[in-house]
Amino acid sequence: MPLPDPTPLLAKAPVIPVLTISRLEDAVPLARALVEGGLPVLEVTLRTPVACEAIAAIAREVPDAMVGAGTVLNADDLARVLGAGAKFIVSPGTPATLADALAACGVPALPGCATVSEAMTLARRGFQVLKFFPAEASGGLRWLKSVADPLPKLKFCPTGGITLQNAPDYLALPNIVAVGGSWVAPKDALASGDFARITALAREAARLRA
Ligand code: 3PG
Repeated sequence: MPLPDPTPLLAKAPVIPVLTISRLEDAVPLARALVEGGLPVLEVTLRTPVACEAIAAIAREVPDAMVGAGTVLNADDLARVLGAGAKFIVSPGTPATLADALAACGVPALPGCATVSEAMTLARRGFQVLKFFPAEASGGLRWLKSVADPLPKLKFCPTGGITLQNAPDYLALPNIVAVGGSWVAPKDALASGDFARITALAREAARLRA
């Protein structure tokens, strides 16, 4: 059976905000601010103690958001985020045991890769869209252009070093479905509760794919 296809999800917006939420009370206003700016697909990273609760709160209280989990490193992480209501899963890299768990989990996944061999292994496992991470540090645009011909069936969501400035070059490539980035939710804006600024940044990012 084919694995759940993340493409329809990624067609909703050109940019997936990569969110690190330290204070649980920020989760819902942050998600609302991003949705209001036109970015409904949100990746909450498992990098803070409240990440799972943040996913659950967004899933419960922001129906227009499509909340997923990032920085999923192993099957235990996966079970926790699925329990919290994550609607898609992102991993920075994909050891074989995680690939198996992602393939069996029933929701769309963007398994991480940074090399051609990793991409080929994941394609063979049935994944159609991969996270290319860390994008800028691993070859960026040149890597993605280089693999388009040898790996014609694969699509990528690059993250790591993507900015408002370089995102248009990535989004112009035919093998890119969306980009991920933390720039739309800067730490200082979150710390000061400046959700209006986050909405403005989201609006700017949402316009990247006209
Ligand atoms: C990720 O997990 O995808 C990255 O840490 C996001 O990278 P950025 O902070 O460079 O956007």
